[in-house]
Amino acid sequence: MSRKDEYYNKAKQQGYRARSAYKLQQLDETAGLFGEGRTVVDLGAAPGGWLQVAAERVGERGTVVGVDRQRIDPLDDPEPSVEYVRGDMTDESTKIEIRDVVGGVDDERGGPVDVVISDMAPNMTGEYDLDHARSVHLVRQAFEVATDLLDTGGDFAAKVFDGQDLEDLIADIEPEFEYVREVRPDASRDSSSELYLVAKHRLTAPVREGDVIEVTIEDIGEEGDGIAKVEDFTVFVSGVEEGETLDVRVDDVKPRYAFAQPTE
Ligand SMILES: C[S@@+](CC[C@H](N)C(=O)[O-])C[C@H]1O[C@@H](n2cnc3c(N)ncnc32)[C@H](O)[C@@H]1O
Repeated sequence: MSRKDEYYNKAKQQGYRARSAYKLQQLDETAGLFGEGRTVVDLGAAPGGWLQVAAERVGERGTVVGVDRQRIDPLDDPEPSVEYVRGDMTDESTKIEIRDVVGGVDDERGGPVDVVISDMAPNMTGEYDLDHARSVHLVRQAFEVATDLLDTGGDFAAKVFDGQDLEDLIADIEPEFEYVREVRPDASRDSSSELYLVAKHRLTAPVREGDVIEVTIEDIGEEGDGIAKVEDFTVFVSGVEEGETLDVRVDDVKPRYAFAQPTE
């Protein structure tokens, strides 16, 4: 029996609407996407296998928003609050509707959503380059939603078909997150060109790796590093003294703080 049949049968037995449910379980196990109480936006959610997994994993205090251009049959007795948006993700109006459902962004940094996942796939033509390009376009739509709505430290995972534009796509996503990984879940191995990009820990910091900035050391932390502030964001600088003003190079950015070194 092929892996595809194996997961199809398992999904039938366990009451999942699609065998892709196992891909999401495996992504979560590899990359730690879900936690109790999280708010998840699921793009390309029909028929609802990923929605079922996301709903189980965020628990009764969580919220899941399923979006698809096709109708999604509501989940039976979902524990968390599950909302449905029917629309095409290439239409701006669908993105606005999602924003309305999750409550919009009321803070300049950080949004109302913890995880954006996308399993969107184009209608396949069988022409490899075209299918790849369309798939990248869909990931870019999902990425726009992620940068718009994710909270600081939030995660983004999206399906993409491998091909020539993948590197550029990753290069565009990377600066907005702490790191990006390519994951090929066992449950998708039969579809050789399919992989998932998992971008962890949304950065909303006003600095990025490689930036050279002038800072003033306001304090010395417990570990002995200098503490500087850039628009309320903490930058730890090694080998400096309180009161110094100097140029530093940012060498590591985390969601809530960064590390930098003096340039000289
Ligand atoms: C592989 S299926 C998703 C399966 C789903 N994750 C599940 O577990 O049930 C891909 C979905 O992407 C949706 N899709 C493709 N392009 C879309 C677009 N532009 N806007 C919204 N949904 C789209 C399709 O309608 C389809 O339902």
